[in-house]
Amino acid sequence: MSAVKRIAVLVSGGGTNLQALIDAQEQGDIISGRIAAVIASKPGVYALERAKQAGIPSYVVARKDYPDSRAMTVALVDKLKGLNIDLVVLAGFMTIFTEEMVNAYPNAILNVHPALIPSFCGKGYYGLHVHEKVLEYGVKLSGATVHFVSEECDGGPIVLQKAVAVEEGDTPEALQRRIMEQAEWVILPKAVSLFCQGRLKVEGRTVRILKPLQLSKECLQ
Ligand code: GAR
Repeated sequence: MSAVKRIAVLVSGGGTNLQALIDAQEQGDIISGRIAAVIASKPGVYALERAKQAGIPSYVVARKDYPDSRAMTVALVDKLKGLNIDLVVLAGFMTIFTEEMVNAYPNAILNVHPALIPSFCGKGYYGLHVHEKVLEYGVKLSGATVHFVSEECDGGPIVLQKAVAVEEGDTPEALQRRIMEQAEWVILPKAVSLFCQGRLKVEGRTVRILKPLQLSKECLQ
């Protein structure tokens, strides 16, 4: 692994979380990491335009170009390995891949989910549907979670979470936007930076966040 971690961001849509990562990188907030590639699950998505504007190389690996999910996953892993990627970030990536992906990147894939896991997650809970179900249920708090990806859908060790209040009169769209602004765009760049600094330690289901390495007085003399 290189000293500065090479990050690939996988996207399927508008890419506002990708933009939050690009902005954080430009502000110097992604310590010891660099976005080396953006990979989309289909051509023409706006996230690809964001990558282009930021000068980040982008690629498309589309499920429809392969006979099955496994073949698509193997092609994706080959692409990531070919690009020497250290960290894979799923930022609104809506394609399910097979176990080859997690085997190739154990505890090195981060996903952002727009709810407080283990609530409102798993099969069928993605994008706007999550917020529709939150409003249907009537919970007063939702939020976002960044977690490591394991073989269980939305079931990997949790890195960071942030709660956001549900407000009276919320529509799914309004709640989605508030959760993005107040939670996703904050905790995703933070988790990525922590990973790149080597400060995430996975112990079973728990992720410990290590303190930054501090230079001792002797080193400074
Ligand atoms: C985000 O809200 C992200 O959390 C969600 O899709 C949206 C993508 O928006 N991801 C999932 O639901 C995955 N289960 P973006 O393309 O603007 O970042």
